[in-house]
Formats: sequence, C-alpha cells, structure tokens
Amino acid sequence: MSYPITRLRRLRRTSALRNLVRETTLTTNDFIYPIFVTHGTGIKEEIPSMPGVHHFSIDLLKEEIDAVLAAGIQSVLLFGVPDRKDATGSSAYDPNGIVQEATRAVKSWAPELVVIADTCLCQFTDHGHCGVVHQNMATGIAEVSNDASLELLVRTAVSQAEAGADIIAPSNMMDGFVHAIREGLDAAGFEDIPILSYSVKYSSAYYGPFRDAAHSAPQFGDRKTYQMDPANVREALREAEADVIEGADMLMVKPALAYLDVLRMLKEHFDLPVAAYNVSAEYSMVKAAAESGWIDEKSIVLETLLGMKRAGADMIITYHALDAARWLKGE
Ligand code: PBG
Ligand code: ZN
Repeated sequence: MSYPITRLRRLRRTSALRNLVRETTLTTNDFIYPIFVTHGTGIKEEIPSMPGVHHFSIDLLKEEIDAVLAAGIQSVLLFGVPDRKDATGSSAYDPNGIVQEATRAVKSWAPELVVIADTCLCQFTDHGHCGVVHQNMATGIAEVSNDASLELLVRTAVSQAEAGADIIAPSNMMDGFVHAIREGLDAAGFEDIPILSYSVKYSSAYYGPFRDAAHSAPQFGDRKTYQMDPANVREALREAEADVIEGADMLMVKPALAYLDVLRMLKEHFDLPVAAYNVSAEYSMVKAAAESGWIDEKSIVLETLLGMKRAGADMIITYHALDAARWLKGE
C-alpha cells in the first residue's frame, strides 16, 4: 500500500474534493468574544497593547453588542474594570458592580445573547491577586488564602447570576472553587446556570496585555501559588478531574497556543465540552506582526483558530472573534 498505489494528492486535486474530505470546520458558533466594560459615560478607549480591543462604558457598549450580533456571534465574555479596588475586591460582588450592570444592560438589549461572566477578584482587589491575602503566621509571608477566597467568589458568582449571566466562568484557580460555586448557585435558585471552569489555567506570560487592559497585575509576588506550572501536564488531568467531580459543566485550557497538547488530552479524557482561551498576548503578537506587514492577518488568524478546533476545542474564546466571524461570512 505504498507509492504509487497510495497517492494522497488525489483528494487534494480540486477545491470541491478538499471540501468533501475536510475533517474540521471553524464556524462562528464556536466563538466567544471577550469584552471589557468600565464605569463612566462616553468611553470607548483602545487598549494600547491590544489594537482593536477597547474598554467600553455601558452607554457605548450597545454599539459593540450590535456589531457582535450582526457578525453572528452568540456568546460574549464580560470582564469588568472597576473604579474602586480594596483588599477584599468588594466591587466584584456588589450588585451594582460593573459586570453586574453590564450584564443587565446586555441582556436587556439582546436577551438571546449568551452572557458569560468571568468570576475572579483580581481586577477588584488593590493587591491584584485573585483571592484575599493573609499573612502566614509562621513565616510572615503574604499568601493568597484559599477558603476565605472561596466565600467571596461564591458571592461574586451569585450576584452575576442574579444580574442575568447565562454562564459562570470562575478563573481564580482556588482549590474547590467549582464545588463552592455550584453549591452557592444552587442554594440561590440558580441550579440551571452552568459553570465553565477555567480548569487548567497556567501561570503564563501570555496574560501580559490583558493585565494592562484590566489593570489586574499582582502588586507583589506572582500567581504561581495558584495558577499551574507550564511544565506540567499530568497535573492538568488532576485539575480537570477535580472540576468534573465538583460539578463543572465545561472545561477550559488557557492559554491555548502553547498548550494544545493539554487541550487534546482533556478532550480525550473527559466527555465535557472543552473551551480554548486564545489569550491576550497570542492576539497581540499576531496584531503586531500583521501591522508590520510580516504576516497575512486573516489567514494566520483563521489557521490558528482552526488549529485549536482540530486540537479538541469545542469553543474558542478569542479577541479575534469579531474579525473572524466577518471573514467566515466572506466580508
Ligand atoms: C484573571 C484573568 C486573566 C485572564 C482572564 N482572567 C489573567 C490573569 O490571570 O492575570 C487572561 C486573559 C488574557 O490574557 O487574555 N483571573
Ligand atoms: Zn484573577
């Protein structure tokens, strides 16, 4: 069965033949579009390290939502940039917090649009960590305390669900966060609201532009005591397994590009839908190269997103979503 009997080029001869045997298809249904919302009015401010991505005040958000709907995108992921930070991130679980206000607004304009709320504290804490910080009695070193953070996360998730969020996406990497949030949501009557867990979130330099955008860089130390070590893959299975047992409805791998092996592994090990997060620096690198004229943006982006899908992603969170959706429509 070798050459010249096997000629793989036979099925590549025409575009129609290639269409017939294509294994993976990228569609706009796969996309989740992240949006940054902030307080105030009249704000549509481009994030310097993420060309084409903006902060929106709620009054100008409507335009962006209209663009999302016109492009055929059915899901957005809301990130809040609050006007007030404190040690416990209290504006994260304020019923009138920025994510809650934006969620209510978006659901009033577009009830069918799936609104996903990122559930974390780092944009809302003055120290920039994803949980509350306590001083270790023995060593005197500041640490992010797990269980105290869980309580605040649960309050955040419930207030987001009360505001109308369709999916809760906890990203803070505390142990037991899915279990705690599931219980909290159920107790508040939100047993039908699914959890998309940032199950496997690596401690990554690829979040740099996002931290500029969300003003959420840690003010001391780093996130290595809660986010995963990029060197580990078996540990990713344990993270995902814990989330499955705790009641996660969907799993996520983040970042995507440098971790496609992990994505494929989760896909093969679990029957839950898996999301890939095409994170900020993955986006910014493509934009920078495209602006320099070094690459063809459209081809690069579509090939990259297709690669994530091929690796096992059922859905892709990407800042390219609006452009990619338009390209897929032939615009
Ligand atoms: C915070 C959070 C981060 C991202 C989403 N939620 C970054 C971080 O851990 O600092 C990153 C998104 C991106 O880079 O696009 N919990
Ligand atoms: Zn965080």
